[in-house]
Amino acid sequence: MAAPYEIVEHEYDVLIVGAGGAGLRAALGMASSGLKTACVTKVFPTRSHTVAAQGGMAAALGNMGDGDNWRFHMYDTVKGSDWLGDQDAIEYMCREAISAVVELEHYGVPFSRTQDGKIYQRPFGGQTLEYGKRMAQRTAAAADRTGHAILHTLYQQCLRHDTQFFVEFIALDLLMDDDGACRGMLAWDLADGRLHRFLAHRTVLATGGYGRAYFSCTAAHICTGDGNAMALRAGLPLEDMEFTQFHPTGIYGSGCLITEGARGEGGYLTNATGERFMERYAPTAKDLAGRDVVCRAMTIEINEGRGCGPRKDHILLHLEHLPPELLNQRLPGISETAKIFAGVDVTRQPIPVLPTVHYNMGGVPTNIHGEAVTLRDGNPEAVVPGLMAIGEAACVSVHGANRLGSNSLLDIVVFGRAAAHRAVECVRPGERLAAPPALATEQAIARLDRLRWTKGKRSVGAIRFALQRAMQQYCAVFRDGPLLAKGATELAGVLGSLNGELDLADRSLIFNTDLVEALELDNMMSQGLVSLHSAIGRTESRGAHAREDFPERDDANWLKHTLAWLQPDGSVRLAYRPVHLQPLSNDVASIPPSKRVY
Ligand code: FUM
Repeated sequence: MAAPYEIVEHEYDVLIVGAGGAGLRAALGMASSGLKTACVTKVFPTRSHTVAAQGGMAAALGNMGDGDNWRFHMYDTVKGSDWLGDQDAIEYMCREAISAVVELEHYGVPFSRTQDGKIYQRPFGGQTLEYGKRMAQRTAAAADRTGHAILHTLYQQCLRHDTQFFVEFIALDLLMDDDGACRGMLAWDLADGRLHRFLAHRTVLATGGYGRAYFSCTAAHICTGDGNAMALRAGLPLEDMEFTQFHPTGIYGSGCLITEGARGEGGYLTNATGERFMERYAPTAKDLAGRDVVCRAMTIEINEGRGCGPRKDHILLHLEHLPPELLNQRLPGISETAKIFAGVDVTRQPIPVLPTVHYNMGGVPTNIHGEAVTLRDGNPEAVVPGLMAIGEAACVSVHGANRLGSNSLLDIVVFGRAAAHRAVECVRPGERLAAPPALATEQAIARLDRLRWTKGKRSVGAIRFALQRAMQQYCAVFRDGPLLAKGATELAGVLGSLNGELDLADRSLIFNTDLVEALELDNMMSQGLVSLHSAIGRTESRGAHAREDFPERDDANWLKHTLAWLQPDGSVRLAYRPVHLQPLSNDVASIPPSKRVY
């Protein structure tokens, strides 16, 4: 039963979808340069998931007197990525990091301070000096609420520069024209039920990751990868979707994040025998090895019977040896979280923790200017006219197979800014827009109607649970061929259920959260499919993709990025593109692949 929809028309120079740190930094750069800028967001901007980022933002400021250098940061990031990161993009990010932090400070971010008034920096996993010789203090922090501080400051700056916000609008689909150019987006206003067609010269996806496709994750319920799914429906590929990062210290049971900064400040992990087991797995960096390394070590300890608690199914994180004033000053947020979600007083007891899904290294492939790219006429990096992507929604690729902690806040700010620079270069304020593509609008409405009027016997929650359980069980820290194949069968079943059995309790258009969740489920489903099939395709172990049947990294065959397209029948098509091993400039040499030990 199709219903007529009222469509409100908008014309902007640029359109940002998502109001986390990446979206706000891009919006700020564009609006402050005179571009008429709209930012469409499904939650109020300061509720975006950036608010949950705790530990900090990496930049070789050298404030702690340790002689840091952006080249060390670049080396760590390339190594952390298990050599899958593009070295030109990584050079760009690590060099820009320093000015990006200083700029944030000037915008008003209340960073923690050293005794002599400089921005405080803490150690973080995999961040070292002199190419791995000792740990660096590189992560600029505002206590353990760094994302919160950055998000609020950027929002204030956006308001100052007249960014137009459309809050509690649900992004439905990109409006692609017949030539494959993006002309804007169709969205649904939850408050009054009307649809809004936004036309713009550039549409920037800043919609974050899809952590909620898993059962246990540190991501907010809003993290359903809506932009990635819109890109798939527009016939575009996603890159490196097999690489899902688990964070070592999600609270056992709830999955709430306990920042890696806790180990940066001196915390450590033990198994059931009280052993500091990371010393065996990473003799130099120990508890501050790369996240994938720590998560695998924790999983092995549990699998081999050395887990803690009556079920021997978790690990303990100790902070109780740290001075209470340090906990109070540097880690107040996680002290409170541990109390609420684990019933633990961190000054006296360890926190039960477990590896928990935290970040998606994959996303919409882009160049370093934030422009979306795709495979066209044999060129795997052909720019998609009109479309950009930044932050966790994008794959630049600076994180490759595994992101280093505190490189995410960095990524969102650096590439949000880069996207703004590009848009300002390319778009003339007020330039005439092309007519809206009619077919794309019809298709977006047809999808909305399909989900709105679906009649079946299963709720959104039931089908979502099936998806989350399958992802958690079949596409986790360790994978192997038979397990992934079973996962593929299971996901095909979940897709069948979504397409044939879904039922909604509410068909209205005003604040219909059942329909919102159905749209989000549809989005997560498509990303689950491309993630799982990309993982089946990659027959090696690299970074966060650990295949027990292919335990070694295989540079001869797999030093390449995966591109994955979702076909209308739910099957996934894969192709590959080379890794950029050359840096951007001659100021630094290419870092050749070598064994990754910490
Ligand atoms: O542990 C944390 O504070 C998370 C940081 C990150 O993912 O970059």
